Amino acid sequence: MYGALSALLLSLPLTVLAGVPHDVQFRRRHAGAAHNATIARRSSYTLSDHHAGQSFFDGFDFFSDADPTHGNVNYLSQAAATQAGLAYVQSDNTVVLKVDNTSTVPAGGNRNSVRITSKKTYNRGLFIADLFAMPHGCSVWPALWTVSATETWPDGGEVDIIENVNEATNNQITLHSGAGCTLAEGAKTLLSHVQGTTCASTGGNNAGCARAASSKQRRERQPRPVHVGNADGRVLKLQCDIASHFQNHQLVLDITLCGDWAGPAYSSSGQCPGTCSDAIADPSNFSVAKWMVNYIDIYQ
Ligand SMILES: *[C@@H]1O[C@H](CO)[C@@H](O)[C@H](O)[C@H]1NC(C)=O
Ligand SMILES: *[C@@H]1O[C@H](CO)[C@@H](O)[C@H](O)[C@H]1NC(C)=O
Ligand SMILES: *[C@@H]1O[C@H](CO)[C@@H](O)[C@H](O)[C@H]1NC(C)=O
Repeated sequence: MYGALSALLLSLPLTVLAGVPHDVQFRRRHAGAAHNATIARRSSYTLSDHHAGQSFFDGFDFFSDADPTHGNVNYLSQAAATQAGLAYVQSDNTVVLKVDNTSTVPAGGNRNSVRITSKKTYNRGLFIADLFAMPHGCSVWPALWTVSATETWPDGGEVDIIENVNEATNNQITLHSGAGCTLAEGAKTLLSHVQGTTCASTGGNNAGCARAASSKQRRERQPRPVHVGNADGRVLKLQCDIASHFQNHQLVLDITLCGDWAGPAYSSSGQCPGTCSDAIADPSNFSVAKWMVNYIDIYQ
């Protein structure tokens, strides 16, 4: 996916916007037509965090524990990722986060990659990510998401903003929560491509409540807002108290491989030969496994 600009509004109500155009000025009171319904009602947002260019990584920690989603990755520390050329800022200020595409590793082994987590946590806000490129490829599972830093998953919630696996072309937006949170009656008729209405998740059943994007959003200039909350007529209304189900979220940007989603979905998400374990081995499978970020802005 290229040229995606994605925004998440985490608030009461919670709103997700995907694929809004490049030139949106969220500080303006009169935002562009298609997302006016969201923005017009929240006209007093101010920029709290601007992550871009040479200072981008100052706002993030590098997560270097074992992947909680059981991917075939070694998440590198900042020092190691920098040295390995997996996290850097280009001379044009584009931020790059990528999977190692130079080493041969054993089939089913681990490949070096990166996962970064915002130092700040949020209970509400408007999150805008302007991305030049999103990782993809056989075995690749990239995600831009938020998750509670303080509660034990799934309590505290998880919001998957941009995510899919392997060579799938359409974004999937998913909410995970503790017990008692569902999409309201009518969600399926209001919005197409609803994948599930039970947001409450467990380790063994973590599909969450999800909506697949209806288009590839490749350089899309027609915004397709997806609202989750009580924003307007096209909402996915959440039936639960959002403040007690979504708490202290950190923003996460990562690339894992195979694991709990890209592994089982390997043969059903695009044309991928062989097995996910085999795909890990070949460095040439990872030349487009990289995030290229213009900026990530967070408004409060
Ligand atoms: C948003 O813009 C659309 C199209 O221009 C318009 O039909 C709609 O009434 C507007 N909504 C609000 C809340 O201003
Ligand atoms: C990925 O690696 C596998 C195993 O080496 C290979 O068969 C396949 O052609 C590669 N796929 C792509 C898209 O390059
Ligand atoms: C790794 O990927 C980059 C693009 O991100 C490409 O230019 C380079 O040739 C690749 N290296 C190998 C060894 O495939």
